[in-house]
Amino acid sequence: MNWQTSVWEDREALSRAVAEEIEKIAAAAASDRGRFDLVLAGGRTPRRLYEVLSTEYRERINWSRTHLFWGDERYVPSDNPLSNYRMAQEALIVPLGIPQANIHPMPTYFAEAAEAAHAYEQMLRSHFGAGGLRFDLVLLGIGPEGHTLSLFPGSPALEERERLVVSVRAAAKPPLRLTLTLPAIETARDVFFLVSGEDKQDIVHKLLNASPEELSNYPAGRVRSQGRVILFLDRAAQGGQAAGAGTTSP
Ligand code: 6PG
Repeated sequence: MNWQTSVWEDREALSRAVAEEIEKIAAAAASDRGRFDLVLAGGRTPRRLYEVLSTEYRERINWSRTHLFWGDERYVPSDNPLSNYRMAQEALIVPLGIPQANIHPMPTYFAEAAEAAHAYEQMLRSHFGAGGLRFDLVLLGIGPEGHTLSLFPGSPALEERERLVVSVRAAAKPPLRLTLTLPAIETARDVFFLVSGEDKQDIVHKLLNASPEELSNYPAGRVRSQGRVILFLDRAAQGGQAAGAGTTSP
């Protein structure tokens, strides 16, 4: 597995380290291509990162050139407490006043989730144009059993190689979700996993010690990028084990 690991004392330090990396990527993307295309992770872990970005990085990142996308979304109204969009709204978007034209939430108002997935894919293809999908950075989390995005172990969606966005029924609450597929993130320039807390020790150990064959049993283990895949860990998630090669830490 050609992942790098980057281990930090706690979630606060991890969030600050990721924010620093995002600043660098955002500056290069805006300079090279005039915009920064960032995929936000859902769940609980990234909230502190978003709060750091919306305060201490308000002036350090060109938010008017930043476009926000979601890696997955629970199929609930956008004001539902379970909505990934709502969490990002509260922690990042509203505090920064990012232009609405730059915010690309996964729609959850279609009668059929499959229609919503199709609509999101159409938006992505239009946004990226003839050059094809190519996010500058994808932020991801990892669940205790190795899911990422809303791709869970054994899901048929893991085998999808054409569509960029699909609707899935997951073994999670709520079950109905939209998710980017693996091909949608394989074109990304960089992928960062943010993994924090003792409850992730077991899956981190499995991922860092799995053979290539075993790795494919975990959706997170199937993630590839065109550039770096960095596993940002705090010590609670690392469990004190010797992290793999390419480890950076304070
Ligand atoms: C979701 C996420 C999911 C998440 C992991 C980790 O919608 O739930 O996209 O993939 O990243 O479940 O979640 P925590 O950060 O809450 O542990």
